[in-house]
Amino acid sequence: MLDALFEPYEMPGLALPNRWVMAPMTRKQSPGNAPTSTVAEYYRRRAAGGIGLIVTEGSLVDHPLASPDDDIPAINAATVSAWQPVVAAVQQERARIFIQLWHQGPIARPGIAAMPVLEDGVEVVPKADAQQEQDMFDAFVSGAIATKAAGFDGLELHAAHGYLLDSFLRAGRVDYVCDLVREIRLQVGSGYPLALRFSQWTVRDLETRQFHTPQALERVLLPLKNAGVDIFHASTRRFWLPEFADSDLNLAGWTRKITDAPTITVGSIGLATGPFCGTGPESAHELLRRYDQGEFDLVAIGRPLLSDADWCRKVRDGHTGQIIDHTPAANQIYP
Ligand SMILES: Cc1cc2nc3c(=O)[nH]c(=O)nc-3n(C[C@H](O)[C@H](O)[C@H](O)COP(=O)(O)O)c2cc1C
Repeated sequence: MLDALFEPYEMPGLALPNRWVMAPMTRKQSPGNAPTSTVAEYYRRRAAGGIGLIVTEGSLVDHPLASPDDDIPAINAATVSAWQPVVAAVQQERARIFIQLWHQGPIARPGIAAMPVLEDGVEVVPKADAQQEQDMFDAFVSGAIATKAAGFDGLELHAAHGYLLDSFLRAGRVDYVCDLVREIRLQVGSGYPLALRFSQWTVRDLETRQFHTPQALERVLLPLKNAGVDIFHASTRRFWLPEFADSDLNLAGWTRKITDAPTITVGSIGLATGPFCGTGPESAHELLRRYDQGEFDLVAIGRPLLSDADWCRKVRDGHTGQIIDHTPAANQIYP
């Protein structure tokens, strides 16, 4: 039934064997901020399991306040050689791999942000000064250069969930992110795929919304597209929810309508009970209906791939009864 999503996908600079994407998921298995052979094998198994494109876990740009964690992988000149085997392992299985570039900004403690963060009237995260803004900008640019040197097929800027780049969007500073996209584009060249992930929600407030109308969304997305973003990854927690009144389009659907750029949808696909039968809102039927009406080009899967590396292949071959169901415990383990 989902055959259309197993068709190859092509856009300038990128050819994918199908339309399934592994969503970025932090795994904290990179001691000293460098990915190990365990990480390579973890991604290789998902590639062998039929995923067309892997977006790695968020990977830190080289800035002292990017994150206090030393087991999250970093992407900079010093970790290029640690990433190369990860990239090779995935590409050998004929999948493609993007890295997600991440600075935790106001979510990290100690953190830094586009706007000060107050809790009970007390400033817990300061606003970055001009020098800090420049340093973080440079860290993303050198992360992008290292990404290309490591052989990644493209990169995704993490501008979602309340982290650093999202804090600039929410502060009305889309220009900062656009300048960054333009500089990265200059450094990696015109044919190199550049994705950007954004969201309404943040990890501190799952119900918050930064875009209340399609016009507000347009004011952010069009400048980003014009600056050089090729692919928009609209991070939602439930793909079937309409984003704005008077239309059933989801966030990816609105993004595609506004930008005409390739979009990725995501959010609880294959997680509800019986998603591949019936015609309910969370069903494969609904996913396909939205795909057919042109809401998105690619479909990202997160948690189901933690419990079952072969999820995609089982869906393709109609062996959904053999899928190992996701349980919250799978978020912690690392097979
Ligand atoms: C354990 C875990 C770690 C995650 N880490 C990241 C991350 O590093 N970057 C990111 O953009 N999203 C992250 N997410 C969000 C996922 O990419 C995805 O959007 C979310 O899980 C919804 O998709 P799903 O319902 O298919 O799991 C994470 C989610 C989980 C469960």
